[in-house]
Amino acid sequence: MRNLFVTTVALSSVVLTLADGKGKGKGKNNDRIRTIYKDVVIIGGGASGSYSAVRLREDYNVSVVVIEKNSNLGGHVNTFIDPATGRGFDCGVQNWIELGGARAFFERFGVEMQPNVRSTFETVSVDFTNGQQLTNYSPPSAADRTAALQRYVAVAESFLPILEPGWWTFPQPQDIPPDLLLPFQDFVSKHNLTAAVPTFHATTGFGIHDMLGHLSVWFMRSFNVNLARVLLGAETSIVPISRKNQDLYDRILTSLGPDALTSTTVTSTEERSSRKGVTLIVRNSLTGIRTKIVAKRLLYTPIPSEANTSPLDLDREEKSTLSQFDYSASYVGVVSHPSLPLNKSLVNTPISAQPANWPEAIPQYPYNTRFENYANSSYFRIIAVGDQTFTAAQAKKVIEDSFDKLVEGGVVNRTSPPERLTFHKFEPHGLVSAYVGKEKLEGGFIQRLNGLQGRRGTWYTGASWGVHLSTSLWIFTDTVLERLVADLWG
Ligand SMILES: Cc1cc2nc3c(=O)[nH]c(=O)nc-3n(C[C@H](O)[C@H](O)[C@H](O)COP(=O)(O)OP(=O)(O)OC[C@H]3O[C@@H](n4cnc5c(N)ncnc54)[C@H](O)[C@@H]3O)c2cc1C
Ligand SMILES: *[C@@H]1O[C@H](CO)[C@@H](O)[C@H](O)[C@H]1NC(C)=O
Ligand SMILES: *[C@@H]1O[C@H](CO)[C@@H](O)[C@H](O)[C@H]1NC(C)=O
Ligand SMILES: *[C@@H]1O[C@H](CO)[C@@H](O)[C@H](O)[C@H]1NC(C)=O
Ligand SMILES: *[C@@H]1O[C@H](CO)[C@@H](O)[C@H](O)[C@H]1NC(C)=O
Ligand SMILES: *[C@@H]1O[C@H](CO)[C@@H](O)[C@H](O)[C@H]1NC(C)=O
Repeated sequence: MRNLFVTTVALSSVVLTLADGKGKGKGKNNDRIRTIYKDVVIIGGGASGSYSAVRLREDYNVSVVVIEKNSNLGGHVNTFIDPATGRGFDCGVQNWIELGGARAFFERFGVEMQPNVRSTFETVSVDFTNGQQLTNYSPPSAADRTAALQRYVAVAESFLPILEPGWWTFPQPQDIPPDLLLPFQDFVSKHNLTAAVPTFHATTGFGIHDMLGHLSVWFMRSFNVNLARVLLGAETSIVPISRKNQDLYDRILTSLGPDALTSTTVTSTEERSSRKGVTLIVRNSLTGIRTKIVAKRLLYTPIPSEANTSPLDLDREEKSTLSQFDYSASYVGVVSHPSLPLNKSLVNTPISAQPANWPEAIPQYPYNTRFENYANSSYFRIIAVGDQTFTAAQAKKVIEDSFDKLVEGGVVNRTSPPERLTFHKFEPHGLVSAYVGKEKLEGGFIQRLNGLQGRRGTWYTGASWGVHLSTSLWIFTDTVLERLVADLWG
């Protein structure tokens, strides 16, 4: 395979640059544009794309270029920096489970880590649809919650060999363990996990807009055994000593230099095959400048939505497989308001959860999950979630409406004149948590998804292919990189 590419190996970049042909008329295809030659083009510079770029370049001696839509790397990591104090407030990714080589990966970039310190704020349960505080609600006792989490670990562990890392060994449809195909609420009843439901929801379950209705297999992809063990104190999660989660990705961006093209997306595909490699046209949204990327292989990492995949010239098999995914949508941010109570976390909890009806403790989507104070500050974290039609504008309105209800219900004071919430940061994660229904799994969906790996010179990693937790995803990504590199030099 290698000899097919001998002509491109030594070249690194070069040729002419022309901006988007404003006033140049048609025939853009004939414009000569800058061409970059690399072994691997990586689409998406979030958790898995940034990690892949570093490992391929530094550990495999494979040349890469990263195509990232945003102006920075890191995806769901969103750090708000207080302009007055320089202190960081993370509203996206909170911490990383210390797995495999995770700590060493941070330290490679000089990001010193420490164990995560969990906030001990008082939780106030309020129904955000009417602003009523739940005065007669008892959350599960710590002992019951622990026992339920232990039961979860015991059951979920038995599925690890077919769920992690990734889908490689997932059974044929007729052999899928029935537990994995149960709606999660039935799995909860079957295994007596009710006392862990509020914890499941508050930790990652909110990101799956219908946690209890989802199949257990998808729940296990957002709340895995490692996460349960962290909550039980049996494993550790870590954060940078700087308390700025973005640090890692900013340093990766610096280290990649010209090998990361930020504010850039693919506009069209000229070639994508195992034999001839991958030729993409990409465009920088700030400058309008287009660049041609000629690579041997493509590593695709974002959510495989219609919008993200349409410039990739999907064939019938790719399109009919990837289009089966449905998603949730999530929006995170940092807000403040003089009436929001310090040292408290206001958690959206339906009134029907009283007195101890824990499966009812999950609001109807779309909703704002919480107003959670950051220690020693007047900033609050918000997270709004909904189904895949939930837009950024709707999310902002849901958050503002939820605050108005708190005022109406008397949980927070009315200011005079009425003052609106201040948004210091608002990050549209957009689509998250890919899933398909039972019929599709029973129709061989996972086998078809696996079948795309390596096909047409294209490999896949990212949350739609693995566990939605960064360090578990890095372990899965390692298994993809091994195969990709074997394919590259095979
Ligand atoms: C609210 C929230 C909190 C979370 N907290 C944690 C946590 O504390 N710890 C943890 O381990 N995990 C956490 N996660 C999960 C974590 O976000 C995922 O594990 C991880 O970010 C997924 O990595 P990824 O590479 O698949 O996607 P992402 O990190 O989302 O990266 C995808 C990248 O692709 C880019 N992109 C998208 N479309 C295109 C395109 N068309 N062209 C080019 N680039 C594109 C995006 O801008 C993004 O940078 C959290 C998730 C959410 C939603
Ligand atoms: C890395 O790859 C380059 C280009 O193929 C080659 O010249 C170099 O010797 C390789 N370095 C190592 C350490 O393998
Ligand atoms: C179910 O869970 C509750 C709370 O953790 C516990 O008290 C009860 O004994 C459990 N029941 C069974 C049958 O395990
Ligand atoms: C609301 O107003 C009351 C009475 O002025 C005051 O005691 C209380 O601290 C205020 N609460 C907040 C959160 O500002
Ligand atoms: C919040 O907690 C901090 C640190 O413990 C304390 O100094 C402060 O007085 C508290 N503020 C309120 C309003 O309780
Ligand atoms: C907040 O302040 C308290 C008391 O000064 C201190 O113990 C704590 O570490 C601080 N927390 C953070 C996150 O800064």
